Formats: sequence, structure tokens, C-alpha cells
Amino acid sequence: MKIITHALELKEFTKNINKTVGFVPTMGALHEGHISLIKRAKKENEIVIVSIFLNPTQFLKGEDLDKYPKKDEADKKICELANVDVLFFPHAKDMYSDDEATVLAPKVRGYILEGATRPAHFNGVLTVVMKLLNIVSPTNAYFGKKDAQQLALISLIVKQFFMSVTIVAVDTMREKDGLAMSSRNVYLSQEERKEALKISASLYLAGKMVSKNILDAQEIIKNMRATLAPLEISYVEIVNRDFEKVWHVEIGNTIILVEAKVGTTRLLDNIWL
Ligand code: PAJ
Repeated sequence: MKIITHALELKEFTKNINKTVGFVPTMGALHEGHISLIKRAKKENEIVIVSIFLNPTQFLKGEDLDKYPKKDEADKKICELANVDVLFFPHAKDMYSDDEATVLAPKVRGYILEGATRPAHFNGVLTVVMKLLNIVSPTNAYFGKKDAQQLALISLIVKQFFMSVTIVAVDTMREKDGLAMSSRNVYLSQEERKEALKISASLYLAGKMVSKNILDAQEIIKNMRATLAPLEISYVEIVNRDFEKVWHVEIGNTIILVEAKVGTTRLLDNIWL
């Protein structure tokens, strides 16, 4: 596995390979969820590039940038074992300068849900993803459905800026008991880890209601909120694949999303119906 730390070096490398390139951007502390993206990329491309960059611009003041888990050595091993061809570990000074141009998230879809609790978070995400996609110029780039709004906004900029990459959406990997895998799960105490199961349980309940043909969004949200109690809920929302709020579940075009705080940790989860 080749490790590249300079953006221009990677740009030069990708310019000279005449092969399909699959790209998996991450912030490190890799887990099975990230590995599932890498495996999918391996299956569908000749070369796989993974980036690990804890992007400071997507963290707001007071968020967990400083305590975000860092596991560089373990991450390198994981990538090696997953047969990653190139690991891109950029320096922050290579990625950002003092006077920066920025991608601005769309005013509506970038500021609802996750964007409402973390205003301007998606400006940071979209800017770094734009930079990374321009450095790597991949054929396909892989993102998790777990971060559904992030995935939708990235798909949107690719379309609106007429970029050439194909965005591939990958299903959420879960622990055996249903908890969606996340680098932030390490913040949970044993007690909180149990409480956190209310999040996947509320989504499971929603899926069950829909399978019984209960499609009314408010009815589903009410029952989900009851399952989530007493967790501090940031939002429970039902949207279509374009991230517009809907009143009824339409199978094949609906995402049900939850964000709740367990202790001091914000956890996200969703199901696509
Ligand atoms: P990070 O949180 O490290 O996630 C990297 C990728 O892994 C994202 O596409 C995310 O949706 C996916 N992922 C996380 N947990 C997953 C799970 N349980 N199952 C499947 N996929 C999962 O998301 C980011 O980093 C950053 O915002 C980034 C896009 C790299 C920009 O900085």
C-alpha cells in the first residue's frame, strides 16, 4: 500500500493511471462501516484510494474536534488488510490556507435537520469533499447512507457543479444489536451504549408500522418519539430522497431520520424505505 501525504503528489499519481479509481473519504478511526465502503470500492474498481483527514472546517466551535478518536496506526493496518492501493493522509496545511474559497451548502437542504443543529457544518463537509474529489479525480466515490443528508448534499453538488464522479451510496453497517456503527460510539459508557439502542429500536418500529400500512408521517414520528424517550431528541423527521419533508411514507422514496443525544454524544441513524 502506497501512503501519500501531499495533495499534489496524489494528483500526479492519479493523472498517470489509466484505470478505474474508487475513492473512500473518511476522518479515520475506521470501523466495519468504513470497511464496507472500501470492500464495495474494491469490487467495483481497479484501484482503491482511501483518505483519512480529520477535517477541521466541518466541526463547529465547542464540538468534538479535539477529542475525536485518532487511530492512525490501526487505520493504516486496516487499510493494508483491506488491500487498499493508496492511503491519502494529507497535512492540514496542504488542504487549507488562510484565505479560502468555500463551497456553501444550499440554503434550505443544508440548514435543516443536521444543518439546523450544526449550522454551516455542511459548508465544511462540501468544501473538503470538493477538494478531495478534485485531488483524486475518482471514477466512483463511496459514501454511507448512515449520513444520509451528507450523501444527499454531496450528490447535489456533483450534479449542480457538473462534476464527473459517480457517487455510490452504501448501506449502513450495524452492531449485532442494531446500533449503527460510528466512530463516535467509543464515547458511550456501558449504560449509554444500552440507552443508544433506543435509536435503532425507534427506526425498527417505524419500519414495522410501514409494513402494517401505517404511512402517516406524524403518526410514525409520534410513536418513534415515545420509543426514544427519555433521550434528548434533536429531530425525528421523514423526508423523500431529495430531502423534502413528506406527510406520507412512499415506499421507494422515503428516509426516516433520527438524531438524539445519549449523554453528551450526538448519534445519527436512519432507514431508507
Ligand atoms: P466519517 O464519519 O469518517 O465517515 C466516512 C464515510 O463512512 C462516510 O461516507 C460515512 O457515511 C460512512 N459511514 C460511517 N458509518 C457508517 C456505517 N455504520 N455504515 C456504512 N457507512 C458508514 O463522513 C465523514 O467521515 C466526513 O464527513 C467526510 C465525508 C470524510 C468529509 O470530511
